[in-house]
Amino acid sequence: MNISKIAIIGCGNLGLSIANGLIDNPTFDNSDLIATRRNLEPIQELKSHGVQITSDNNKAVQEANVIILSVKPYNVLNVCKEIKGSVQKGNIVVSTVTGISIDQIQEALGSDISVLRVMPNTAADVNESVTCIADKGASNEDYQAVADIFNAIGNTIRISEDLMEAATVLGACGIAYVLRFMRAMVQGGIQIGFDAKTATAIVNQTVKGASQLLIQNGMHPEYEIDKVTTPKGCTIVGINEMEHNGFSSSLIKGIVASYEAIEK
Ligand SMILES: NC(=O)c1ccc[n+]([C@@H]2O[C@H](COP(=O)([O-])OP(=O)(O)OC[C@H]3O[C@@H](n4cnc5c(N)ncnc54)[C@H](OP(=O)(O)O)[C@@H]3O)[C@@H](O)[C@H]2O)c1
Repeated sequence: MNISKIAIIGCGNLGLSIANGLIDNPTFDNSDLIATRRNLEPIQELKSHGVQITSDNNKAVQEANVIILSVKPYNVLNVCKEIKGSVQKGNIVVSTVTGISIDQIQEALGSDISVLRVMPNTAADVNESVTCIADKGASNEDYQAVADIFNAIGNTIRISEDLMEAATVLGACGIAYVLRFMRAMVQGGIQIGFDAKTATAIVNQTVKGASQLLIQNGMHPEYEIDKVTTPKGCTIVGINEMEHNGFSSSLIKGIVASYEAIEK
């Protein structure tokens, strides 16, 4: 399908990250984007990039052929009711909303509307999101149109819908886990002598480097860990001390706790 316009309904934290990723992106024109929320003040800046902003969801939907729903789970079905009359057959509705199924959205909008679920993360802002995409019998053309949007702001992985909550935890909550880990490294760095700015610069690049080692070399983390753990050296002493204090265990327990919180 030829994407003429993309409407982001609910341009909050995630919606704005998606919009920022799409701005000045070679794949789309800024004028292809329309962003909505009730209070437009926090997204005024989008206007200076040629992005349309409005509080009128129906107007945005009528102008777009891909409609990204990015409101909170407790709002989404009301928003679907509000825009139902404006969504046309042939439009693609893309939901970022945690815990609301494709069936529920189709029930609200009509079973003839193509609905896909996506789980991006806020690294969309810097074109580094991983976006899991699930569909329920969408056409290849519709799937590809959605993948094209999210590949423009990172990369995409096709998953089945029953893994969508797990994708929320690993990919979307994952940003917060990693950032908290980085914050702790900075705090450690300050305790051993660096000022906060220098510690942050070292940690930021170290985390980027570690992830690039895995992404570019395709190796298992432990393979790279073995390279820096000299027998009797300071790295293995530090890692073992972290593990004695429950490092891996606490991360795994946190991931499972987040998952259970969604499932409730
Ligand atoms: N944050 C993440 O990292 C992340 C990642 C993956 C998925 N998600 C999912 O994405 C969705 C949005 O999350 P978020 O963190 O971006 O939440 P958020 O910051 O609260 O954004 C939601 C936005 O929706 C707007 N809104 C509420 N009612 C509206 C309406 N009737 N019409 C138009 N806009 C409306 C709100 O602005 P106004 O009050 O001004 O209208 C708000 O800016 C959630 O369902 C979440 O599960 C989030």
